Parts: sequence; C-alpha cells; structure tokens
Amino acid sequence: MEKGLKLKDKTILVTATTFGKCEPSPIPFLEDKVGRVIYNPFGRPLRSRELIDLVNEVDGWIAGLDEISEEVINAAKRLRVISRYGVGVDRVDIRAATKRGIVVTNTPGSNSVAVAEMTICLILALARNLIYANLATRKGEWPRLEGIGLKDKTVGIIGLGSIGREVAIRLNSFGCHVLAYDPFIDKGSGHLLGVDMVSLDDLLARSDFVTLHCSLTPETSGMVNETFLQRMKKGAFLINTARGELIDEETVLNAVNKGHLRGVALDCFTKEPPNKDNPLLNHPRVIVTPHMASHTDEAIARMSWMAMENCLMVLTGERPAAVVNPEVYGDGLNS
Ligand code: DGY
Repeated sequence: MEKGLKLKDKTILVTATTFGKCEPSPIPFLEDKVGRVIYNPFGRPLRSRELIDLVNEVDGWIAGLDEISEEVINAAKRLRVISRYGVGVDRVDIRAATKRGIVVTNTPGSNSVAVAEMTICLILALARNLIYANLATRKGEWPRLEGIGLKDKTVGIIGLGSIGREVAIRLNSFGCHVLAYDPFIDKGSGHLLGVDMVSLDDLLARSDFVTLHCSLTPETSGMVNETFLQRMKKGAFLINTARGELIDEETVLNAVNKGHLRGVALDCFTKEPPNKDNPLLNHPRVIVTPHMASHTDEAIARMSWMAMENCLMVLTGERPAAVVNPEVYGDGLNS
C-alpha cells in the first residue's frame, strides 16, 4: 500500500456508540484530520439493513458491535478499513472483508481490565444477592437475605486470554481457587497466574462460579447447552460478559428455574437489545446489564484512540499492529 496518502478527502464512519465519550479529545482530532465524519444516527449498534445506506461513500469505519455482513461490505465501495472499537470481531464478516482487500483491525487489551472488573462486580453481586436486595429495600421491604462468601470458593474461567487473566489475578486476592479451561494455553502460563489449567469437564464439575471469557467462534457458539449445564455443580452460578451467543438462553433459564443454577449474570444476549418479554430480564435470580462491561472511562478512551489510530494508519498506507486479517497484506503475518 502506498504510504503518506492524504486524509482530507476521506470520509470516516463512526458507529461505535461510546467513541469519544468521557474523554472527547479523539473527536476534534479525527474531525481535524479527515474530510468528513459520519456518526451513528441511532446511538446503538446498527443492523445490516441500516448500514447499507450509511457505508456508501465511506473510506474508513470505526465500528462498534454492528452487524457487518457481506452485504454491507459489498455496498461499501470505497471502504479500506474496518477498525473494530473493541476486541471481538464476531460480528464482522472477515472473509467478505478479506475478499475485498479491506483491512480489519481491533483494539486488543484496551478493555480487559474493565471487563474483568465488571465480572468481579457481577460475581460479588450474585454471591450477595445485591440487585434483589437493592430493589426490595427501595420498595420498602426489609428481607433477611443470605449470601455466600468468595473465600475458598472455586471459580472456573473459560478462556484464559487477556480478560480471563485479569479476572484470575483479581480472584486470587479473594482467596478463591481458580481453575481455567483454555485449549490454546499451556499449563505453565496458568501456573504463573495461580490458576490450575483443567479440562472443561473438571472445571464444570468443581466450580461454584463459572465465568465465560472465550471468543465467539463456530466451536464455542451455543457451548452452554443442556450437557454443559448438567455437568455444572448443583447450585453454581454462571456469568457471561463475553458474547450472548455462547449460551442457549432457554436452557439456562430452565436451569435457574429448576434451581440447578443458583444465579446467573448476563451482560450480553443472543439478540441485543433482548426482546422486552425475554423471561431472563425479570427473573429474580438473574442479573442483566446492557453489554457494558467494557465501558469504563479509561477503556473507552483507550478504545477510541486505538481504533482511530488503526483506521487512520491504514488510510495513510501504514500497517497497524492489530490486524485481524493479515492475509490482506499478502504475507499472512500479523505484526
Ligand atoms: C469487545 O471488546 O468486543 C466488547 O464486546 C465491546 O465492544
């Protein structure tokens, strides 16, 4: 790619809904550098059909959790780069982007601490029945609720990547036994983190809390199904701050209703936002939040700057570090 290309004739689409929030400096920076910036008109992740009209004259895209299908990619005739604001690229049709020579980047590590802190927050809230207690007290009730402590409890982390590791570090300080299952990580690196790397079956059978931190792939999609839940200890808790599609929501609901799961915390759903009549939304033993685990001021600032830099680098002919589809450069190497 030719380096030093001009940016003033470029149009950037920003659909990431929290871009430049809290720490707005990326906004004037971007607006000053490029010819035109188009912002998300709906303030939420966009569906494929909503994107078709927006992407027409766009050269670079700072993308949130939008549905970036092949149809959208093919409608974006001038597009050179899809810069994911965040880590997961499961909503981007990478194959279609690669076919068109469009570089896809992401922001690894930008929100790991934020998601890990939210996970700990949800584990504690489940353990102490915090949300129910808060709602009941506000209503004038004074329920004598009981909870459980974290010390000596076993927590199973599925996916010991950057987020899973931050979760493990924090759980160690609560005196938990931390187990992890990750087919891509060797036992040694778990040891350094005070984590026992075990099989999935072992993790499910022993954990009081199971927390999901793996990417959504064809292999992990729907992994929390009947068999998975049956292998979990009776009375255990499940936390999902990764992707909604990892779990079969109906089966999880049945498991809470039957008391097999004592509680569940979900920051993400198969359909986002979930339908208002989704029974998980009003279940007293289910905590629900709107896919916000990565939204701290600090993580938002990091995601904004990283995603913007990745986008502008590609448009000026430079190669960013976090390229998801290195095949577009012809060498297949990620730097
Ligand atoms: C991620 O990093 O993928 C989070 O879900 C926020 O976009």
